[in-house]
Amino acid sequence: MGKWNIGIGAAVTGLRRLSREPRKGRNVMEGYIRGCGLQFGNVKELCQSDPVFQRAMGLAERRTIVTSYKLMNLFMIIAFGLIKVERGHIFEFGSYKGGSAIFMAAVAQEYLPDTNVFALDTFSGMPETDEAIDTVVPGDFDDVDADELIAYAATAGLSNLTFVPGRFEETAPALLADAGSAALVHIDCDTYPAVSYAYESCKPYMVPGGYIVLDDPQVASCLGAMEAVEEHMIRADGLHAEQAFPHLVFRYPPLD
Ligand SMILES: C[S@@+](CC[C@H](N)C(=O)[O-])C[C@H]1O[C@@H](n2cnc3c(N)ncnc32)[C@H](O)[C@@H]1O
Repeated sequence: MGKWNIGIGAAVTGLRRLSREPRKGRNVMEGYIRGCGLQFGNVKELCQSDPVFQRAMGLAERRTIVTSYKLMNLFMIIAFGLIKVERGHIFEFGSYKGGSAIFMAAVAQEYLPDTNVFALDTFSGMPETDEAIDTVVPGDFDDVDADELIAYAATAGLSNLTFVPGRFEETAPALLADAGSAALVHIDCDTYPAVSYAYESCKPYMVPGGYIVLDDPQVASCLGAMEAVEEHMIRADGLHAEQAFPHLVFRYPPLD
């Protein structure tokens, strides 16, 4: 990654005064560099000219509803962040047509050759939701051809990617126990019950300072996901976000 010279934009003047040490459980400097680099600086151009990013994006882009800024941030977390924490696997809660999982697997294949990506979803539509807070309803996202998806990932050579069909509540406990450790968890499942469950189930397996990335809380139709973050992560566990743009990023267990 030597050619990467991230600029964060002239408007961000106070960065040099900040400590590089953790503050309140997360690395503020690293969060600013990724977030400001994307929003105000040159990270978009750096990603678009990077061959690893180009390949991952080419494999994923017609199969994902995750925005390109969020994929760019996942790219930076995998390429620059995961090499600084203990080894652990990558889990995605909510994969739909597989795009963001395929993207992460293609990037991990390059930078973290012994890391596996596990993509959890029913692959047949949204299960129960909380009708008091969630706008998505059971059956949404049911237009997935799981056999075609598995064949596509195999043809792309993504031997580090495993699709795990079923409700999280049925598949995650044994999967996490078997895999042993998680360094990055991408939670993209929209609803209060699913986001709550995803976070609580992965907590015991996170390596110190592991990354938990949430796609949905700032999406207009996903207040249930925000409520799960507020209750479980912020109030109960006292976490502070390392990044708020382009998605929420937390470190868990918090950095010392
Ligand atoms: C927004 S989509 C994921 C988008 C995907 N990451 C992408 O790259 O486009 C949300 C997915 O969460 C899944 N989901 C939500 N709750 C679930 C649960 N309890 N068990 C399994 N899958 C669930 C739905 O089936 C749906 O496919």
